[in-house]
Amino acid sequence: MAGISDYDLSGQRALVTGSSSGIGAAVARALASAGARVVINYGGGRQRAEDVVSEIKSAGGEAIALQADVSQESSVQDMFRQMFEAWDGIDILVNNAGLQRDANLIDMSVEDWDKVIAVNLRGQFLCSREASRAFLKQGVDPERSAAAGKIICMSSVHEVIPWAGHSNYAASKGGVSLFMKSLAQELSPNRIRVNAIAPGAIRTPINREAWETPEAEARLLTLIPYGRVGEPEDIGKAAVWLASDASDYVTGATLFVDGGMTLFPGFADNG
Ligand code: BGC
Repeated sequence: MAGISDYDLSGQRALVTGSSSGIGAAVARALASAGARVVINYGGGRQRAEDVVSEIKSAGGEAIALQADVSQESSVQDMFRQMFEAWDGIDILVNNAGLQRDANLIDMSVEDWDKVIAVNLRGQFLCSREASRAFLKQGVDPERSAAAGKIICMSSVHEVIPWAGHSNYAASKGGVSLFMKSLAQELSPNRIRVNAIAPGAIRTPINREAWETPEAEARLLTLIPYGRVGEPEDIGKAAVWLASDASDYVTGATLFVDGGMTLFPGFADNG
């Protein structure tokens, strides 16, 4: 039977991209409360990242804030270098940084397309590559974890639910799905586990319009069988499980944390 110590991340070093707000911040806080040291990566907005660091520290954890644009190779490499200088390695990467630039196809600019693919997909590639190079060098340290490293890719229910007006975003998350599985297949022999979390509608700034008025929230709830909008902490708890030895035999999986959004709720009443 899994003991509670299987969820313990003490001594492990984590990097969470885009963790100065929203889901990323909640994941960082959850990993820290399970005992990991956490890099709070931010693209812009240093103060918010420092606030997350302070929160973690005042709860007795350890964290540092590092700036990097995850879509730029040299910026990502600089961030990993700084992390290794501080903590001498990495055990957990959470590829969380992501954004939306919504437009109908006929109005979508090349910039809107490229920006979303660059941050949501190329960013996951660049960070996974740097982390995996380090995991391979480090190997397994059984004192720390049964695995040499763990990668968690933040996907979305829109890796399977088509989304009109958001084709760039849906394409990026569909890409994340097979990117994650391909890495899992490639890296499993080296004891690197790669999984994804596919959040549904989580109450964060990215989808404020969808929940900020009672009318909008009521409309949104018709898509969520479980009857509530998700909270960032729902994703934090899933990330702790996937990062920990409690999920040691899990790789190449997407964990949908969506209150049932992917259960075709429109069919609940006979279609
Ligand atoms: C999007 C949100 C949306 C949710 C459910 C997420 O991936 O970023 O804007 O509310 O999916 O549709």
